Amino acid sequence: MTEFHFEYKKTTIGALHEPIQQLIQLAADATKKAYAPYSNFLVGAALLMDDGTTATGANHENASFPAGICAERALLGGLDMGSPRKVKAIAISYNSQGDHTAALSPCGICRQTILEVQLHQGAPIAIYMCSPDGDVIVVDDASYLLPFHFSRKNLDM
Ligand code: THU
Repeated sequence: MTEFHFEYKKTTIGALHEPIQQLIQLAADATKKAYAPYSNFLVGAALLMDDGTTATGANHENASFPAGICAERALLGGLDMGSPRKVKAIAISYNSQGDHTAALSPCGICRQTILEVQLHQGAPIAIYMCSPDGDVIVVDDASYLLPFHFSRKNLDM
């Protein structure tokens, strides 16, 4: 039987390299752009391309709840998938009124969306899952968050 192994690191923002600290700060700042009047759970996401450019997104809710979109997908929906540039890293942060302060872990649909980008570009995307308190969980490859994932291979393409 083939076993699925993956590695992750629990760390803090201050222990990370400067460009990643800046990326996490961008994600934290992007929570201010969140439109989340129904959950009051403000999520910000930021990506770092291999040429050093960055982009941000935030969750955008709707009175028709399923029409709302997570920060990660709001962010990746703006990506030029025809560009040779690759996404190196994505940071996700949040602000909420609750007591919960654990590092944010992306929802299943967002994991699938991030993985689509990774498979399309053929290079791993590191994910930095952050808490408002400065704790960070890091995986170096988005596929670690979605074992047994569905992909174009399943469509026989
Ligand atoms: N949310 C995100 O933006 N990203 C995630 O990975 C988890 C959840 C948003 C969706 C919704 O607007 C709010 O957080 C509460 O679920």
